[in-house]
Amino acid sequence: MPAIKFYNRPAVPMEMHKVKIVQKLNLLPARQRLEKMHEAGFNTFLLHNGDIFMDMLTDSGVNAMSDEMQAAMLRADDAYAGSETFYRMNAKLTEIFGIKHLLPAHQGRAAEHIINLHFIKPGNCVIMNYHFTTSKAHVTRLGGRVEELLCDEGLVTKSDLPFKGNIDLNKVKACIEREGAANIPYIRIEAGTNLIGGQPISYENMKAATDLAREHGIATVLDASLLQDNLYFIKVREESMKDKSIREITRMIADLFDVIYFSGRKFGFGRGGGILVRDEKLFHAMEDYVTMFEGFLTYGGMSVKEMEAMIVGFEETMDFDIISQGPQFIDHCVRQLDELGVPMVTPGGGLGAHINARQVLDHVPSDQYPAGSLVAALYLCGGIRGMERGTLSEERNPDGSERIASVEMVRLAFPRRVFTFSQTEYVIDRVKWLYDHRHLVGGLRFVHEPKTLRFFTGRLEPIGNWPEKLIEAYIADFGEDQ
Ligand code: F0G
Repeated sequence: MPAIKFYNRPAVPMEMHKVKIVQKLNLLPARQRLEKMHEAGFNTFLLHNGDIFMDMLTDSGVNAMSDEMQAAMLRADDAYAGSETFYRMNAKLTEIFGIKHLLPAHQGRAAEHIINLHFIKPGNCVIMNYHFTTSKAHVTRLGGRVEELLCDEGLVTKSDLPFKGNIDLNKVKACIEREGAANIPYIRIEAGTNLIGGQPISYENMKAATDLAREHGIATVLDASLLQDNLYFIKVREESMKDKSIREITRMIADLFDVIYFSGRKFGFGRGGGILVRDEKLFHAMEDYVTMFEGFLTYGGMSVKEMEAMIVGFEETMDFDIISQGPQFIDHCVRQLDELGVPMVTPGGGLGAHINARQVLDHVPSDQYPAGSLVAALYLCGGIRGMERGTLSEERNPDGSERIASVEMVRLAFPRRVFTFSQTEYVIDRVKWLYDHRHLVGGLRFVHEPKTLRFFTGRLEPIGNWPEKLIEAYIADFGEDQ
């Protein structure tokens, strides 16, 4: 439900801010976009931002700052060691999460690096509701393994379940029995779950899962990178939590965990990261890795200006008005496209709107990367950059065969406080056009395939000349210069 009620206009989600500074956008003519896509090896990560009209690749490091955040940057205390900015950041996070010790890290995966260096021994098994690309890569790099114990409904793309990110408690019990608690260094809860569409996890489920872990002496770790949206969903979708403030919900969640880490590129509207550690001994055990890989303990690879901005950003995250806008814009986008017949992941989650690419391109086999094709096609048809989240984002099996992803999606991220309502309408319009012309889209194959995290820098080519045909159909409807 939009926060603001309307008198005689259809209610729409509302921006709860006004624009103070802007960046001009560039919509390249259609044929030039085709050239750029060829140059980028049909990988949206390799496009230049200046060639993009709507950058919906990610919500990471591209969220709009507030005036207060920018103003705070001037207060930043530059010091290699002992920066006052760090102590302010530590104090703010301690106030919000109730955990005393903070290890700074330059971004989320750096936090994962440090946590796993401490926890993982070869053969270990880490329980998760669902993996994120970097969180899994850090476990497996060290010889560990990940067990994703998401509830079965989590992978049902079209659903009206409020908490598709929940972990299956029976599967957790069975896994602990099978593996033995000693082989499970920690349970990682991702709130909300990025790769299944930013779907939230309920407080009740987090509590039950962490209770189970604690009974068996297994450490509990929260990935809070996407916590902002998850807080909103707990408040509006979890009946028993509806009268609690965002601050209260945050503290209740935090109390369940031994370690909380985050990407400050998402959580806090800035750029950075950190690890909150409850136990002092554990904190000291991880310290050395920070000085070795990130920087001194009072900046950890972050700019102090970004740290100051994030301190304000953390506080803004406790404001229900502010954190409501992202999920409401996403909900609007998902509902509209769903009504127009486009297969979407429902209900709308946090982070972005997710298109079920396997269903849209059911004529493209999984090993020709339907989500990769669809995301490339969307750039061709409107200058919109989304992100592939499917088989292309997986790593191959040890025998070299493709690991077919359980969900094949295109993510259209809504960076927080960035896009307007009319821009959202444009995206809906172009996605619908592409859906109606989906038969024109074909598959992709690799011409350069990196071994690790291949989706970032891999280069592909279209199988056949479908991009040329698609662009001609687009031009027939919209003209050459769009
Ligand atoms: N955990 C989650 C849930 C994430 O979504 C991300 C990043 C990370 C950890 C790693 O953080 O990028 O700061 O190193 N997600 C980005 C995305 C990359 O586009 O979804 P990072």
